[in-house]
Amino acid sequence: MCGIVGAIAGRDVVPVLIDGLKRLEYRGYDSAGVAVLDGELKRVRRTGRVAEMEAAASAEGLAAGLGIGHTRWATHGGVTEANAHPHISEGELALVHNGIIENHEEQRERLKALGYGFSSQTDTEVVAHLVCHHLRETGDLLSATQRAVRELRGAYALAIIARSDPSRLVVARMGCPLLVGLGEGEAFVASDVSAVVAQTRRVVYLEEGDVAEVRRDGLAVFDATGAAVQRAEQVSGVSLASLELGPYRHFMQKEIHEQPRAIADTLEPILETGFSPALFGPRGSELLAGLTGVQILACGTSHYAGLVARYWIEALAGVPCAVDIASEYRYRPIVANPGTLVVTISQSGETLDTFEALKYAIAEGHHRTLSICNVAESAIPRLSAMQFLTRAGAEIGVASTKAFTTQLVALFALALVIAKARGRLTAEDEALHVEALRHLPGSVQHALNLEPQIAAWAERFAPKQHALFLGRGLHFPIALEGALKLKEISYIHAEAYAAGELKHGPLALVDREMPVVVIAPNDALLEKVKSNIHEVRARGGEMFVFADADSQFGEEEGVHVIRTPRHVGLLSPVVHAVPVQMLAYHTALARGTDVDKPRNLAKSVTVE
Ligand code: G6P
Repeated sequence: MCGIVGAIAGRDVVPVLIDGLKRLEYRGYDSAGVAVLDGELKRVRRTGRVAEMEAAASAEGLAAGLGIGHTRWATHGGVTEANAHPHISEGELALVHNGIIENHEEQRERLKALGYGFSSQTDTEVVAHLVCHHLRETGDLLSATQRAVRELRGAYALAIIARSDPSRLVVARMGCPLLVGLGEGEAFVASDVSAVVAQTRRVVYLEEGDVAEVRRDGLAVFDATGAAVQRAEQVSGVSLASLELGPYRHFMQKEIHEQPRAIADTLEPILETGFSPALFGPRGSELLAGLTGVQILACGTSHYAGLVARYWIEALAGVPCAVDIASEYRYRPIVANPGTLVVTISQSGETLDTFEALKYAIAEGHHRTLSICNVAESAIPRLSAMQFLTRAGAEIGVASTKAFTTQLVALFALALVIAKARGRLTAEDEALHVEALRHLPGSVQHALNLEPQIAAWAERFAPKQHALFLGRGLHFPIALEGALKLKEISYIHAEAYAAGELKHGPLALVDREMPVVVIAPNDALLEKVKSNIHEVRARGGEMFVFADADSQFGEEEGVHVIRTPRHVGLLSPVVHAVPVQMLAYHTALARGTDVDKPRNLAKSVTVE
């Protein structure tokens, strides 16, 4: 979704802004722009790709030592150049904004009455005029911003430059991430660390309600009360390599192949600490003691990770576990139980529905909260009492892959931590689980080696309009994930069913044109799955079966089989996620869709 970048330096910052915006492209956007201070405020905006805006900026010879840039995902107002950021108020200041201002209509009326004209339909232009109004009163951009934000309701990250003040940028944060990067005699701001790591690794994350001024030689932060505060400087661990494509064709392909490494990295603290509550931070022991239930909240692929976890938590830890789609949970009456652990799962840590669902759970009395997240310092882990950071590295492809499998690893560890705390894990079983986890990266690597066979299947999928995915038990969520991946990036309509539900409806859809993918590992439900397969075959449907190497599953007319590695017990969903990811990827490739940036989708959904 929307992205912010800003810079102040003794050199031309336009290339820095453009590079930063390109690194934010993965989040999804529909227009882009930059504004710089070169005596006066100069701006270039374009709908479409950053590259088009870059060409226009270069044609206009844009260059300066102070500037801001933005990628916009339309919310208030359509995709037009007039609605793109930066917004300029009265030639006095330029402003970029992430988030949504709730009271923009009432502020718009007030500003109109004060004589301000509007050239866009955005809530952002309201903020630009509001800051300008206060700038005219105070003559100081920092105090003007502090006054303006007190009059705003909603979520924002702001970066502002003023014609009268070439020595600083002013930024503010409430509900949307914003950080400052500190260089040598230069400084940067961004909504996502990936936009600045090519310039500096020294970063300061702003807190909720902070307003700050950023100068070439440093940073001054003020909290919501206006008091000067220090925010800790950190060294970002995000590697530049994780932001670049390397030898791969797409980030999704790269990220699928990074899974053995990502899983091994995520396992490191688990194998080091053991299945102890300390894995989730200093309050782990206190907050996991005496649990009576688990409530998982998440969206999209992260929600499917939660569905797998429910199985593990109930089977291993013996506590009831509910899994809710965050956007539903936040709007339904709930019965809070202080003994319940609320677990949010989010790759980005900033999905608005998940964040709001967590806030709602806390407001209703839940105090045991754990975030499983891939982005340090993002909103959801910050709001949670306990955190576990997956170590997938930056995930750029919109379709989540390595974040999903590393979330599964974290959730498996959670189930075992609870099991152990409740005295349900024998030393012998613990040793077996440790052994299985140690082998997991290797099993995932074996699954990756199936790529040529899966690519051949994808050729048969590419011309289809619809597909069904079937799984049972632990693998039903993997069927859901396979169907989601296929529709997200190849635009083939795909649905997933728990295989036992086939005869209760979807069987009516089965004919020669409907490929049916079955996740059929060698577990207790294999015989049941086999009968479901016969139901499909009897109706002429073509089956594509992912079976384990050790399962007795033979190819026959209309039944194609790919054998995944030897069955890995409860961890099998992690291994089986990989072939369905590759099937979606190769089908999309054959159909020529934009794999990393599928139409209408965004990586980080920071709006409702
Ligand atoms: C978007 C992404 C999905 C992701 C979902 C939840 O829809 O396209 O890949 O699963 O958001 O995101 P989160 O960052 O909270 O895991």
